[in-house]
Amino acid sequence: MKKIIIAIDGPAAAGKSTTAKLVAEKLNYLHIDTGAMYRALTYKILREGIDPENETAVIEALKNSKVDLIKEENRIKVFLDNKDVSENIRSIDVTNAVSAISSYKKVREMMVDIQRRISKEGGVVLEGRDIGTVVVPNAELKIFMIAGIETRAKRRQKELSEKGLFIDYNKIVNEIIERDNKDSKRKESPLRKADDAIVLDTSNLSIEQQVNFIVKKALEIIEN
Ligand code: CDP
Repeated sequence: MKKIIIAIDGPAAAGKSTTAKLVAEKLNYLHIDTGAMYRALTYKILREGIDPENETAVIEALKNSKVDLIKEENRIKVFLDNKDVSENIRSIDVTNAVSAISSYKKVREMMVDIQRRISKEGGVVLEGRDIGTVVVPNAELKIFMIAGIETRAKRRQKELSEKGLFIDYNKIVNEIIERDNKDSKRKESPLRKADDAIVLDTSNLSIEQQVNFIVKKALEIIEN
């Protein structure tokens, strides 16, 4: 059976990760969370006490860094220099600094190269900001996932509270808006809908509905 590439892009907290993971499970595809890769590099920069705004220092520190996405049981774990950092990369400090790190051309080249290599054979669901526009513009199915800011902030608040972190709602709204702004306005591979992407507004959809929508579209392509 044909193995296609599914690209899911969209702004922060639109539900990409949860959806991509389940779509990949249903199709028996590999799920590649590219945001987790940028987060892992950001974690390293912060841990080493480097200023995320200092591009030269960031590039120097990341030259020999290794990011791997490793499948363990049902989930992908993020390894940085051979250590599991899956939990560390979700911290608020990493979230606040990641847009600076991901704006650097050299950083993007390193990550995009890995992403293209893993997707070469198809059978993958990649999620991020520039998947349909830059990483794999030839992907057979492109989804641009959006949701209203209230929905996204509430989802993020719930996700954090499940980890024992209780963050003020307005703080979350501001963080999301600021990160979307930075990601959309940067020079290198900004967050943008590919011309041939399907817009999926998940504001009023359940996870099951949004997963089924994408799986149905994928099967139409695979079976044709
Ligand atoms: O899960 P959430 O929506 O909060 O973000 P994420 O997907 O983990 O991505 C974290 C950050 O990585 C984004 O805000 C972007 O700055 C960057 N990113 C990127 O530049 N390109 C990608 N393909 C994926 C993420």
